[in-house]
Amino acid sequence: MNIDRILAKAKSHEKRGETDEARQLYTMLLQTFPQNQRARRGLKALQDTTLQNNYSSPTKAQIDTVIVLYSKGQIREALDALVILTTTYPSVSLLYNIKGACYASIGQLDVAVESFNKALEIKPDDAEAYSNLGNVLKGLGQVEAAVTSYKQALKIKPDYVEAHYNLGNALVGLGQPMLAVTSYERALRIKPDYAEAHCNLGTTLKDLGQLDDAILCIQKAISIDPNNSIFWDKFAHVLREGGSTAFGGTLSPYLLQALEQPSIRPSDISISIINTLRQQPNLQAAFKVSRTGDLDKTISNVIRQLASIPLLLRLMELCPIPAPDIEQLLTQMRHAMLNQWPVENQDSQGLRFFKALAIHCFTNEYVFLESDEETQEINRLQNKLKTLVEGREAIPATWVAILGAYRPLHIFSWSDQLKESGSVENIKEILVRQINEVREEQHFSLKVPRITSINNKVSKLVREQYEQSPYPRWVNTGLYAKPLVVGEVLQELEIKLSFNEEQFSVSPDILIAGCGTGQHALSTASRFKDCNVLAVDLSLNSLSYAIRKTKELGVSNIEYMQADILELNSLERQFDIIESSGVLHHMDNPLAGWRVLVDLLRPSGLMQIGLYSDMAREPIVEAREFIEKKKYGDSPEDIRRFRAEIMNMSNDSNSHLQKILDSRGFYSLSECRDLLFHVQEHRFTLLQIEIALKELGLEFIGFELSNAQIMKKFREIYPKENSPTLLPLWHQFELMNPGAFGGMYQFWVQKT
Ligand SMILES: C[S@@+](CC[C@H](N)C(=O)[O-])C[C@H]1O[C@@H](n2cnc3c(N)ncnc32)[C@H](O)[C@@H]1O
Repeated sequence: MNIDRILAKAKSHEKRGETDEARQLYTMLLQTFPQNQRARRGLKALQDTTLQNNYSSPTKAQIDTVIVLYSKGQIREALDALVILTTTYPSVSLLYNIKGACYASIGQLDVAVESFNKALEIKPDDAEAYSNLGNVLKGLGQVEAAVTSYKQALKIKPDYVEAHYNLGNALVGLGQPMLAVTSYERALRIKPDYAEAHCNLGTTLKDLGQLDDAILCIQKAISIDPNNSIFWDKFAHVLREGGSTAFGGTLSPYLLQALEQPSIRPSDISISIINTLRQQPNLQAAFKVSRTGDLDKTISNVIRQLASIPLLLRLMELCPIPAPDIEQLLTQMRHAMLNQWPVENQDSQGLRFFKALAIHCFTNEYVFLESDEETQEINRLQNKLKTLVEGREAIPATWVAILGAYRPLHIFSWSDQLKESGSVENIKEILVRQINEVREEQHFSLKVPRITSINNKVSKLVREQYEQSPYPRWVNTGLYAKPLVVGEVLQELEIKLSFNEEQFSVSPDILIAGCGTGQHALSTASRFKDCNVLAVDLSLNSLSYAIRKTKELGVSNIEYMQADILELNSLERQFDIIESSGVLHHMDNPLAGWRVLVDLLRPSGLMQIGLYSDMAREPIVEAREFIEKKKYGDSPEDIRRFRAEIMNMSNDSNSHLQKILDSRGFYSLSECRDLLFHVQEHRFTLLQIEIALKELGLEFIGFELSNAQIMKKFREIYPKENSPTLLPLWHQFELMNPGAFGGMYQFWVQKT
């Protein structure tokens, strides 16, 4: 290259702000031609500009432009602009802070660390840079270093509210919740309306077992930002962990709102709601009347009293109510209402109770006991209604509601004609739930793709059970507030993998084997970012329910198909993740089904499995023996009679059987059948699972626990870092805590 061309090139670098490149060219030229004046002048000018820029800063407009690009997510463009700005103004630490934030936002954490360190080199007292560096170090798993960085930020700027908050989060990560509480409290002293700090303080107090304070903190966060789904999620967590804790009186309005939150499954918080409801004077008064046997005489009054409790009505509409005392009251109310056939138009509040009761009984699949006398009266009522509907006469809405509290309205030949009647407009919700939605499901059932045959004898029996009793009939479910990439999900579960997680980062293919009525598939589809879900089940009725609800929620990344897991090897597809919860233990040979699923899993793929625990199900085994001895079949009538027998046992008569009353599954027909009357059930110990995993080529990587206290207790006994991945230790733990896996073992494994 000749001298002129080198000089021209250096000049054009200079113009683009690429001073390093220009400087390099001038220096190179001067090494060969030390007297070249143009190169000397060029270099001098460069040095002057650098000197000048070292003491000057970009304009506000220049900074704002980059910040706007960053906040719009145009990270590449922001980084391009930053290259020019940092070249021109190499001594402005803010630019390196923004650069670090850009790199952090695209997951290039190592480069982000370099940028923040550069900012600190320029300005050693840059509190923001320390705080940002702390966030990135935390993201890299270097939590102790993160804590040091936040503390450094706070030394420089003691009232730096975000640094206090971030320090709190990091201390939680380090297992120092007490110190974390102090940090959150400091943040809140500086900024009392810092909703996230209230929420995380609440969650930390929950982990410390201070549930009353925890719920108050989260309520505070919600009152500041009621639309934040993460707060609601944490709220539900505390309630779930609280079990039967009776929280204070300020909870009621929050519970009512919680029932409508997409991230909350109403049945998950039903126990807390029941505890709150039991404190309501109107409900207490109704209990009193029902105990004295005076319901028939005072029914209108009691209806009005109960109708004045919105939380009760909404819970009745949304899920089964796991409370024997409330079930008893509602059963008696239903009977008293049937005895009276109240024709007079109830005031609108009273009618709300009729509606809620009809919807409730439909939702629990008519699990309440029905006497012969009631059966006869219901037959009379349905004949009377048939005559009225077919004769196009006026129809008392209350009668329809009473019938709907005993029978699903869609079964009657005249139900579609009933919908046309103007007199039932004010109980439309019952007709939608009991007629329209069922018709929709019947329509979908014809369209479900059937991708395998069902040949196995047990599969056929199981299918029949779930065709009759799709499990469960749910109304609102809990979706994840924010979908995450696989690595983030595992991080939240504190599961560490020994391989590169990046293979899972985009569009994971997920199979849900045995999806039931869709709650499982919907929950998973909302949990993993950009995932594609295939959900299969034996039962067309369950699948149709799932399809209807999936459409209702506008979710489009789930395909539903009918298949027997045993026959799925004909499916020419592979998956990154396979989930099968509450399914394999209902197969003829669970290991055979599990093996088919392992073959569908990609190398290093993940599985989430839910299996019954032998130890935790001891009371269930006893109940199953009782059912067998008493020759109860699995018909709805027998299930109702069995339930009544258990509920009428005196408290001290048979403590083990009475324990079943604590199972939520006891309070709806399909769930009770699933819990106690299943045609096929296997149970496992963790040592058996360990052997099975070896045979299947799977590695246990961790439990998914719904109650954080279990892990806390486990870690107190087994503090070594890798203990949670050792099943023999968990087995010992379960021997000491036989109820620990009450619902099921829910765990993650990885294909080796
Ligand atoms: C207890 S439900 C669990 C549903 C769902 N996983 C959940 O957690 O809500 C069990 C489901 O597994 C399905 N199932 C059982 N055996 C199966 C098999 N061999 N192939 C496909 N589905 C099966 C049943 O039809 C039923 O819907």
